[in-house]
Amino acid sequence: MKKLLVIGIGAGNPDYITLQAVKALNRVDVFFIMDKGQSKDKLIDLRRELCERHITDPHYRFVEASSPERERGDVDYRTSVDALNLAKQRTFERLINEELADDQCGGFLVWGDPALYDSTIRILQAILVSGTCAFEFEVIPGITSVQALAAQHKVALNQIGRSVEITTGRRLAAGQVSDADSLVVMLDAQDAYQHVEDRQTEIYWGAYLGTPDEILISGKLEEVAQQIERVRKAARQANGWIMDTYLLRKP
Ligand SMILES: C[S@@+](CC[C@H](N)C(=O)[O-])C[C@H]1O[C@@H](n2cnc3c(N)ncnc32)[C@H](O)[C@@H]1O
Repeated sequence: MKKLLVIGIGAGNPDYITLQAVKALNRVDVFFIMDKGQSKDKLIDLRRELCERHITDPHYRFVEASSPERERGDVDYRTSVDALNLAKQRTFERLINEELADDQCGGFLVWGDPALYDSTIRILQAILVSGTCAFEFEVIPGITSVQALAAQHKVALNQIGRSVEITTGRRLAAGQVSDADSLVVMLDAQDAYQHVEDRQTEIYWGAYLGTPDEILISGKLEEVAQQIERVRKAARQANGWIMDTYLLRKP
């Protein structure tokens, strides 16, 4: 039976990898690499570096597949995500069918943790349900960008006994109402913190967390929001892409 390992590699710092993930890396014959966009080269380099550093018997190989892109513009967001996941499913099926022998182990190196805003697990479940390929799979957890953010700012995510909600910049900008007093925002393409009405809200913002380019800014929105927008724009221009996450804490 083919085996697949979905391995969380942490969200930036090569030292975020866990001992369980290192053991998993050493079981893999074929790594499937699926990144896209301008961040592609740096993120692929980190994956290669992790393999070179931690794999003791280098019998493995990499297979790169160009990752389908989500249709943007006028199309409904949910429809475009479903179409993207179906295209990814076809790619995964081809990789598993054509690149992996029956007794071999394939590996997906997932940024951060596979359970957080990543479709790998959902796609593998969908393939199993569809019956187009037969395999077993395991998930190895990783350190998320949310944990990296909290650690770098030396802040607890929740207030004592209270809830934490994780959401997207898209939902925050659309006026999502949340009764959690700690809100973590990811995948923000539009400076959604500028839509928060209460400017006394504290923000703990982090970009390129765990990497040499890391930037951290924190304070009340009324004091730092403009600075974050400026720094964010400049960093995106300088690097060609940005990954950032932030915690919003109601006063
Ligand atoms: C597709 S999600 C993947 C999340 C990932 N699975 C995780 O566990 O963090 C990508 C989003 O994660 C956040 N992110 C990932 N790595 C980051 C980093 N090193 N610094 C800041 N934010 C990061 C950003 O919000 C980015 O838009």
